[in-house]
Amino acid sequence: MAKEFKRYLVTSALPYANGPVHIGHLAGVYIPSDIYARYLRLKGCDVISVCGSDEHGVPITIKARKEGVSPQQIVDRYHELIKRSFERLGMSFDIYSRTSSATHAKTASDFFRKLYDDGKFIEKTSMQYYDEEAKTFLADRYIVGTCPKCGYDRAYGDQCEKCGSTLSPDELIEPHSAVSGSVPVKRETKHWYLPLDQYEGFLRKWILEGHKEWKSNVYGQCKSWLDGGLQPRAVSRDLDWGIPVPVEGAEGKVLYVWFDAPIGYISATKDLTPDWEKYWKSEDTKLVHFIGKDNIVFHCIVFPSMLKAHGGYILPENVPANEFLNLEGDKISTSRNWAVWLHEYLDEFPGKEDVLRYVLCANAPETKDNDFTWKDFQARNNNELVAILGNFVNRALVLTKKYFNGEVPACGELSDYDRQTIADVAAVKASLESNIENYRFREALKDAMNVARIGNKYLADTEPWKVIKTDPERVRTILNVALQITANTAIAIEPFMPFSSAKILKMLAVDKFGWERLGTFDLIPAGHMIGEPELLFEKIEDDVIQRQLDKLAATKAANMAAEAAQHVEPQKDTIQFDDFQKMDIRVSTILSAEKVAKTKKLLKLTVDTGIDKREIVSGIAEYFTPEELVGKQVLVLVNLAPRELKGIFSKGMILMAEDASGKLRLLQPGDTTSNGAIVG
Ligand code: 2FM
Ligand code: ZN
Repeated sequence: MAKEFKRYLVTSALPYANGPVHIGHLAGVYIPSDIYARYLRLKGCDVISVCGSDEHGVPITIKARKEGVSPQQIVDRYHELIKRSFERLGMSFDIYSRTSSATHAKTASDFFRKLYDDGKFIEKTSMQYYDEEAKTFLADRYIVGTCPKCGYDRAYGDQCEKCGSTLSPDELIEPHSAVSGSVPVKRETKHWYLPLDQYEGFLRKWILEGHKEWKSNVYGQCKSWLDGGLQPRAVSRDLDWGIPVPVEGAEGKVLYVWFDAPIGYISATKDLTPDWEKYWKSEDTKLVHFIGKDNIVFHCIVFPSMLKAHGGYILPENVPANEFLNLEGDKISTSRNWAVWLHEYLDEFPGKEDVLRYVLCANAPETKDNDFTWKDFQARNNNELVAILGNFVNRALVLTKKYFNGEVPACGELSDYDRQTIADVAAVKASLESNIENYRFREALKDAMNVARIGNKYLADTEPWKVIKTDPERVRTILNVALQITANTAIAIEPFMPFSSAKILKMLAVDKFGWERLGTFDLIPAGHMIGEPELLFEKIEDDVIQRQLDKLAATKAANMAAEAAQHVEPQKDTIQFDDFQKMDIRVSTILSAEKVAKTKKLLKLTVDTGIDKREIVSGIAEYFTPEELVGKQVLVLVNLAPRELKGIFSKGMILMAEDASGKLRLLQPGDTTSNGAIVG
């Protein structure tokens, strides 16, 4: 028998306040958590949903340093942006707090102090990399050098992103600080560690034996961590941004961001209600953490060990972590700007908040990584939201307006088909509930949409627009049933698409229904006047999608250019002016171009150098078609010793620029110049 709980505490991973939120965050964490919390609220459960900004950690200090502002300015900027964007998307957090708040500083500090006083930490001194220029210890991630395995020159101190090897900073060739560029030195430093190895027995019993129902990706990751053996983890850092370690002799040390951040859930609850303890300290509360897969170890291993060490707190009942969402086939990346940013979406698609919520839920990476594409976004909007949900609701309302002036007609005798339809709608409830309660939100969304699907089919099958001519009484019953299904739709979709749900209720001119009314058919009484019908969704045209694709293409091009710019060949040996003077470079026009038979790379060009017309063989066939070259003015090194290539005498060389990716571009005079003009 599943345990009955009296209340729910829903947490959503605290986003780092060093950048805006993107669709990957939404699909992984926030859309599922909001659906879950809204559903429970609609059911009338005692539920609170807490979130907030994660405002500590090294990346924030690095960003601040780069921009020449304080870390506080960075987090203030992004906290506001994230908070506002969440509100605009209809996230229904009961509180959106932040870890730079006074409540949080005290809560996290007290938490550490209790563990310290109870002797739960071990103190260790070790040698760590220190940047003398920036006056800061360096996390492994902030030491960059050449990978000993593959020679990649921008490998991190913990991993080479080129060959995937796990590294330690000591293995890097020519390590340097990513903060200042200087060569780091080693310095002794003392830190506090939580001996996770001592919690292995507890974790094994609690997770591996007690929570076999957890999603297989979560359970599997926990098992492999536990099977690999746990090590003590440092819970403090040498940094000047964070919550000071509340212990004497710990000057310049702060709590590790992953120690303080999950405590942020507790502080947020404290800020929300003086009754916070009943949510955190009663076994009657069901605590559910919504996170992305990169957070599993912290929420299933580290934080529970902290809670256990502290004592008095409940543990999560479930941690439904999602996998990752990709964008148009590539990994979403904040640093490469490869993302759809929530605040930009909201600005560019006003009124389409639910479309994004719908698409991200329908495509959520629940069991494996998934891909967001703009074409799929368009197709789901046009073929599902417009064609099924919008179409049904609109038809039911418009027909009621048309035939009965907006007055809900009475329901007469039901046909067998009516009864079957009503039973089909009623049957959705159990499936929808089971799917949401088991964190299968994609399936749950299909269930919710099925209510509209059933309604659409009902109208298509009963054809009130034809029957009205012969049997207007029957149309009364048909539209009564259709309007009851419309109201049912509003209930079923509320957790997923709250704006559309509210819009349906407004058009029906009724108040919000509780979840228990789903599947019932007396939601709107006969004689009730409905409001004005409006379209719920509108078609998204190709040009709108193309603009988004163009935006991504521009990002890709900018990334490639930036990448290429970072790979500049070192300068060659110095030459004398005389050496340069020996080269005779002339402006020339390409008169004709053709492929050299039986070669892939060679083109035979005839050029007018101003001195003469001559043939040049050039290895550029992979980059240019003959047609695009003819008529172009180029620069030609004309006194290069002739060479025979495939039986053709090549007299000179066309000058090109080659970037780091090997792509060639013609060098051309800025303005049309007479052939034979000397370059130098
Ligand atoms: O991965 C992240 O974005 C973290 N900021 C999540 C923190 S979750 C919690 F522990 F606060
Ligand atoms: Zn490598």
